[in-house]
Amino acid sequence: MKSVILAGGSGTRLYPVTQVVNKHLLPIYNKPMIYYPLSIAMLLGIREILFIVNPEDLPAFQKLFSDGSHLGMSISYKIQHKPNGLAEGLILAEEFIGNDNVLYLLGDNIFFGHGLIDVLRQAKEELEQYGGACVFGYYVHDPERFGILEFDETGRVISIEEKPKKPKSNYAVVGMYLYDPEAVEIAKSIKPSHRGELEITSVNQVYLEKGKLRVKLFGRGFAWFDAGTHDSFLEAGEFVATIERKTGLMIGCIEEIAYRNGWIDRSQLLKLAEHLKKTDYGKYLIKLAEEGK
Ligand code: G1P
Repeated sequence: MKSVILAGGSGTRLYPVTQVVNKHLLPIYNKPMIYYPLSIAMLLGIREILFIVNPEDLPAFQKLFSDGSHLGMSISYKIQHKPNGLAEGLILAEEFIGNDNVLYLLGDNIFFGHGLIDVLRQAKEELEQYGGACVFGYYVHDPERFGILEFDETGRVISIEEKPKKPKSNYAVVGMYLYDPEAVEIAKSIKPSHRGELEITSVNQVYLEKGKLRVKLFGRGFAWFDAGTHDSFLEAGEFVATIERKTGLMIGCIEEIAYRNGWIDRSQLLKLAEHLKKTDYGKYLIKLAEEGK
């Protein structure tokens, strides 16, 4: 399985902050926002990543991640020239995806919870066995902001609506999707929505109509943030800070995951920590290397 991470878009909901800086590079507490979704792919054991980025932001992403070899990974980039919608990323990633399954992640989504990776791992296995797609639902108080699931009386999902004025449930579809390679053709077949974008919800709706969409719900023990507004951005940072201060363990520390996955060794970890050593982040990596896994 490969992963495509969307880090383009205009970030208008975070203006003036994102007028000159890409949203996904802003800090959620002590690390760039984009580390969090990347860490999800890494925790799932995925080493091949494609970032979809705006033309003007490509140099910054390349400076941050280069080709990924320092993390024992392969990281590449594809430019999205205009924010034509989330589903366009699938079309842009066609060559990268090829005949593989894909974990499709939105670069501003932050996930946390015990057992999260187990749920994802199970979804990945089901995808390998049956094909199709899998989406995840999470109960929210503000369903107008998201793609929303509709259930019948037996609890089966019967529709997904993008930012409905009258939401049919409180279950939002989070920005983490598993697709078989057919997703590319499906993305090519859908029409832009009334806001002129190729919606990821339209892709999911096609899978649903074909009877090939699995839906998993995250319970109360999970935290999910779409850090695309000023309040949710701040909330996500506060959440990460609280957990990290309490436990002394980091959320979304990509060097740590690469090390624990065995993709880099102790000396490579120490090398990565070198230029960070004045920070708590760097000290954390050094401690990790000294302790052993
Ligand atoms: C996008 C999707 C929406 C999903 C949300 C999750 O919305 O279109 O279906 O629920 O991400 O973050 P956007 O953040 O682009 O408005």
